[in-house]
Amino acid sequence: MKILLIGANGQVGWECQRSFASLGKVIVLERQQLDLTDTQAIRDKIQHISPDIIVNATAYTAVDKAEQEPQLAAAINTLAPQVMAEEAVKLDIPLIHYSTDYVFDGEIGRAWTEEDKTNPQNVYGKTKLAGEQAIAATGAAYLILRTSWVYGARGNNFLRTMIRLATERDKVSVVNDQFGSPTWSRDLANATAEIMTQGIEQIADKSGVYHLTAAGKTSWYGFAQVIFEMLQQQGHNVAELTGIPSRDYPTPAARPAYSCLNNDKFKSAFNLQIPEWEGQVRLVMKSLADTD
Ligand SMILES: NC(=O)c1ccc[n+]([C@@H]2O[C@H](COP(=O)([O-])OP(=O)(O)OC[C@H]3O[C@@H](n4cnc5c(N)ncnc54)[C@H](OP(=O)(O)O)[C@@H]3O)[C@@H](O)[C@H]2O)c1
Repeated sequence: MKILLIGANGQVGWECQRSFASLGKVIVLERQQLDLTDTQAIRDKIQHISPDIIVNATAYTAVDKAEQEPQLAAAINTLAPQVMAEEAVKLDIPLIHYSTDYVFDGEIGRAWTEEDKTNPQNVYGKTKLAGEQAIAATGAAYLILRTSWVYGARGNNFLRTMIRLATERDKVSVVNDQFGSPTWSRDLANATAEIMTQGIEQIADKSGVYHLTAAGKTSWYGFAQVIFEMLQQQGHNVAELTGIPSRDYPTPAARPAYSCLNNDKFKSAFNLQIPEWEGQVRLVMKSLADTD
């Protein structure tokens, strides 16, 4: 199997590179080899490589900055995936793409299903949703895996920010009224690899949008509590942690208050699920301490 992995430097892409290694030949395109604002280059590279499957791990993920750069966010999150899907159609191959819980508005009392009405509250969410719709409109065989609150040992993410702040500051305030499911980048990459192991032919039959996050839910404050507790157990002096309402932490981009995703459709399609978020966070914290 020849896998084209677009974006190997981000949180998920980095882990995908690792998880896909045993599946076949993995061809990786990073920004230096392919700038996604150049749509002709996307077409040329895909046709030249002629893979059996494309996995797109790229995105414009700077949620607040996207409010100031909507055109760039749309180029990366909407147009580039559309072009990838168009080229996948020409080669008759599937595309695996990731999307976000931020396609929802957070006004619901249960975990969101794939059938629920989307209503993104910020530029990032709007451009990601438009990307999903653009992929579907090409007629490609695709899997769009909507995930949430991605963290890992590498990249810009909440876990790494909290580790830094916990040890640099005396006091840290974190919002306690936004709820979601922290999801380890490695779990996403492993689940994606498992889908491919099950056979890429099945993707055409199972084509569609799926929710794929860790099980369980918490607030950003709850997520931080586990990180702080682990740091303390590892012998660090940590800052005092306080939960605050979102209104006390204004950001340029609005975020949904509740963005837990229901993973049942993914579970039944692929017989696969990501474990509960808290155990995975502890695992990552432990592995970071072990590599210190
Ligand atoms: N992070 C989250 O909390 C979160 C939550 C829900 C869903 N998701 C989705 O999960 C997927 C993976 O996210 P992630 O957290 O792994 O993202 P990330 O760490 O921000 O990585 C994004 C990747 O996109 C690449 N990229 C951005 N602009 C590019 C351009 N113009 N040309 C070429 N490459 C470009 C980056 O390259 P450089 O490294 O060179 O900049 C990087 O490899 C995305 O679809 C994202 O929307 C993420």
